Amino acid sequence: MATKKQKNSKVDDVIQEIGIESQEKKGKTETAAEQIKEEVNQNSKKEEFSLRDLPGVGSKMADTLKEHGFHTPMSIAMASVSSLEALDGISELTAGRIIDAAKEHLDMGIKTANEFMKDHATRGFLTTNSKALDQMMGGGIEQGVLTEFFGDFGSGKTQIAEECAVTVQLLLDRGGLNGKCIYVDAEGSFRPERIKQMAVALGLDPNKVLENIFVARAYNIDFQLAFNSKIREMIDVQHEPIKLVVIDSLTTHFRSEYTGRGTLADRQQTLNKYLHELIIYAEQYGLVIIGTNQVMANPGMMFGDPTTPIGGHILGHASKYRVYLRKGREGKRVAKLIDAPHLPDAEVVFMVDETGVHDFDEKNKK
Ligand SMILES: Nc1ncnc2c1ncn2[C@@H]1O[C@H](COP(=O)(O)OP(=O)(O)O)[C@@H](O)[C@H]1O
Ligand SMILES: [Mg+2]
Repeated sequence: MATKKQKNSKVDDVIQEIGIESQEKKGKTETAAEQIKEEVNQNSKKEEFSLRDLPGVGSKMADTLKEHGFHTPMSIAMASVSSLEALDGISELTAGRIIDAAKEHLDMGIKTANEFMKDHATRGFLTTNSKALDQMMGGGIEQGVLTEFFGDFGSGKTQIAEECAVTVQLLLDRGGLNGKCIYVDAEGSFRPERIKQMAVALGLDPNKVLENIFVARAYNIDFQLAFNSKIREMIDVQHEPIKLVVIDSLTTHFRSEYTGRGTLADRQQTLNKYLHELIIYAEQYGLVIIGTNQVMANPGMMFGDPTTPIGGHILGHASKYRVYLRKGREGKRVAKLIDAPHLPDAEVVFMVDETGVHDFDEKNKK
């Protein structure tokens, strides 16, 4: 059996070959590439220095931490003891100590409610390109939290995810976040041609738009879990202005790779840890995180729509917003907001057609 370390480095190799890669990398001169490499080198030297500022972190431990996606004191401060003690050569005691030291190093105390409000007030929203859908969600898809779109096959989950991979690149005054996207594709449904259609509809250069979407094809659960530490690396080390992370879908591999009741607890625990990490990234980096999810038939439900999102309570608690999508006629889609803590449950209609996601009314006026 492969050890954890071997397994991880194997996954890493494949990620480098086929994984997180800009869709269109042409046009960079060798000198520019060299410059970027040099910059990254400089930066990682700096990061290592700051990691090693933490008492008890030597070069070996710094390497181990970096290998697992912890590049900065901030990433350590936000980590849980269980996620660090799982690494080679780090005991529970050490994990606790370096987390505390990192918090102290960063002067992170308990925030007053006012400070908390101030931090959160700066959070923005990302447009879905449908005003109705944005309005239902309080102004768009909120930064700093996980938003889940669930629904049947063909209900529009991937369409919304792809549209947002485009809109995130718009400037703030157009509802964008002027940033880039990491798109974790667990189902093989990402379509660059579709992105191009959506980009053109918004008046953007389709090739530039593709260049700003880093697609990571998650063939199995190991890939999907490994990509989580790549998110940190792309932001902390490569300094990519990532503002959106898409996971399409969150649950496919969790469902197919853990079958039978015996491993249900295992599955829920891994899913829980995975989602927890995502939530921390969202909060720490002000990311919009969109996760999609399938539904399963719920035979116990006699009335209403007999479908339930996969992932149970764990996903329910992790997502601040859950939106249920249904397919209507002629490209119409119905979106229903469920259990948002500060917004009423509501339902709106939007459209999916060749130009992407947009309002139903707007199309009707034409
Ligand atoms: N180019 C297009 N033109 C019109 N409609 C499209 C186009 N591409 C996708 N769609 C619509 O989106 C649907 C697929 O939605 P999708 O978001 O991929 O489903 P899922 O919820 O399974 O991810 C198609 O059935 C079709 O109705
Ligand atoms: Mg899909």
